[in-house]
Amino acid sequence: MNLFDVYPINDIAITKASGSRVWDDKGQEYLDLYGGHAVISIGHTHPHWVKRIEEQLEKIAFYSNSVRIPLQTELAEKLGKISGKDDYQLFLCNSGAEANENALKLASFHNGRKKVVAFNKAFHGRTSLAVAVTDNKNYVAPVNETDNVTFLPFNDEAALEAHFAANGNEISSVIIEGIQGVGGINVATESFLQKIRSLCDQYGAVYIADSVQCGYGRTGKFFSHDYAGVNADIYSMAKGIGNGFPLAAIIVAPHIKPKHFQLGTTFGGNHVACAAALAVLEVMEKEQLINNAHETGDYLAGELKKIGDIENVRGRGLMIGFDVPDAIKDLKKNLLWKHKIFTGEAKPNAIRLLPSLALTKADADIFLEAVKQEITALKG
Ligand SMILES: Cc1ncc(COP(=O)(O)O)c(C=O)c1O
Repeated sequence: MNLFDVYPINDIAITKASGSRVWDDKGQEYLDLYGGHAVISIGHTHPHWVKRIEEQLEKIAFYSNSVRIPLQTELAEKLGKISGKDDYQLFLCNSGAEANENALKLASFHNGRKKVVAFNKAFHGRTSLAVAVTDNKNYVAPVNETDNVTFLPFNDEAALEAHFAANGNEISSVIIEGIQGVGGINVATESFLQKIRSLCDQYGAVYIADSVQCGYGRTGKFFSHDYAGVNADIYSMAKGIGNGFPLAAIIVAPHIKPKHFQLGTTFGGNHVACAAALAVLEVMEKEQLINNAHETGDYLAGELKKIGDIENVRGRGLMIGFDVPDAIKDLKKNLLWKHKIFTGEAKPNAIRLLPSLALTKADADIFLEAVKQEITALKG
């Protein structure tokens, strides 16, 4: 049997990893500033995370949500404390798309409405409703097409106000990434998020903060929406929550009440996933990784801004993007193949940095030096 060929891949087989380093099957070492697409939060194979999972596996790996799973309660308490949202309610699931799917569905159950506002260049996942609020026609199959979703320009307060003025009483929810990831590291302005909050309050719509990529401490605050000083009604999260162990979640504001059977999952919140997620939060706290994301991210972005040949350095914390002009368009490729450094990309010409939140300044310097060297080489 062949693999169903849905990804363009680099011909590299990674067989070992530790911290911000990975090694291929030939023993070649790489510096990882991509974090397996923003997933590696506390560092690859962190010893505490490995131990927590191993110990849990020895006890019980899985039982269904038909019984009490105390690890879920423990996770909810710890997440509430670290995120500062301790009066919210936690629902655990398996992927970012599923988290957004549940968030949108729950909003609709809550206010009985059907219309959703999303934004240009948004990416919210590939399942039916998540892809319907994703602004990329290539991902949307005919069966996913719906008139219930309106895409508005990102950061355009006037357009949002006008749309609410005309349709406000029909709008179930507004879904927005605090920083668009796949869309190219576009930061939502604080006033735009505040405007979403006030319009949702005025019209009874639900504010959904997709924090799958920009959440979980990556930007130097637990949620990037925190920079705007607003609380969303529902936050979705995935990626960094398990440091690579598949798990996702939504947290739900206290005024949205649960009803039996509206949401559900077989695997979500299983014992091993909870142990992995608890290990992540324990390490984040002990090693002050949100702080590190802030400081190392500021340093890295500041140094990148000094490099004249790259453009529009943007982002927050360790979620950084910059544009690569045509003259040095092979920068990303050469960083990987010549300098052995993984980075992410955003079409058409942006490099995305999504490293572990434990990235050191020394590793940031190795990357910066490689970028400078490579730019000089490319400019010939
Ligand atoms: C902002 C955002 N939302 C949702 C998703 C979907 O997450 P998953 O691939 O876990 O379904 C992604 C994945 O890249 C994302 O970046």
